[in-house]
Amino acid sequence: MIRGEKVRLRAVERDDLPRYVKWLNDPDVLKYFGIYRPWSLEDEEAWYSAQRTDQSVLNFAIETLEDGRHVGGCGFSHINWRNRSAECGLFIGEKSLWGQGLGTDALRALIDYGFRQLNFHRIYLRVYAEHRRAIRLYEKAGFQIEGRWRDAEFRHGRYHDLIWMSILETEYRPRESV
Ligand SMILES: CC(C)(COP(=O)(O)OP(=O)(O)OC[C@H]1O[C@@H](n2cnc3c(N)ncnc32)[C@H](O)[C@@H]1OP(=O)(O)O)[C@@H](O)C(=O)NCCC(=O)NCCS
Repeated sequence: MIRGEKVRLRAVERDDLPRYVKWLNDPDVLKYFGIYRPWSLEDEEAWYSAQRTDQSVLNFAIETLEDGRHVGGCGFSHINWRNRSAECGLFIGEKSLWGQGLGTDALRALIDYGFRQLNFHRIYLRVYAEHRRAIRLYEKAGFQIEGRWRDAEFRHGRYHDLIWMSILETEYRPRESV
């Protein structure tokens, strides 16, 4: 169990999967994120089984501390244990809860775990250039922009630029030290 100030990160359980399916079929959640086709419970079960034994990914469910409600997911992918690097990803599926700091808190808990428990050196991510809310959240957590891939993703009838961001262990400041 990984504890933030508003949320905790816990293992993904099989019982969580129907909620992921609901969120991963919501056009608002998917506007700048994730999959591009309808996602079934069977798809999600296959994802769940595959990720459990894959050493290059580590996924968590996000749960509120206040009432234990499962509100989203986050995790690491492309983990490279030699370079000590990983890509991170995050979503709050319960969109009525956006803007309350849950995403920021979950991301902070995730990167704290990455640097202080998994001994990562570099955590990186990619985000649609127009996804201002997400970029703001990543900057608040200490990520820096390192580059832009032009027209890298086709979605909603046009191409979008992707911004790459990262944070190094030497730049990371644990909450208690800031
Ligand atoms: C992106 C996401 C994780 C943000 O979660 P959240 O809980 O709403 O985020 P927070 O409330 O912690 O913080 C959002 C910040 O962005 C700011 N923000 C919101 N809309 C904004 C906009 N249009 N432009 C700039 N900043 C904006 C908020 O004010 C807040 O910053 P502040 O605390 O300084 O005021 C959530 O919206 C989500 O899951 N979206 C769908 C999936 C997704 O896109 N994931 C990210 C893929 S890269």
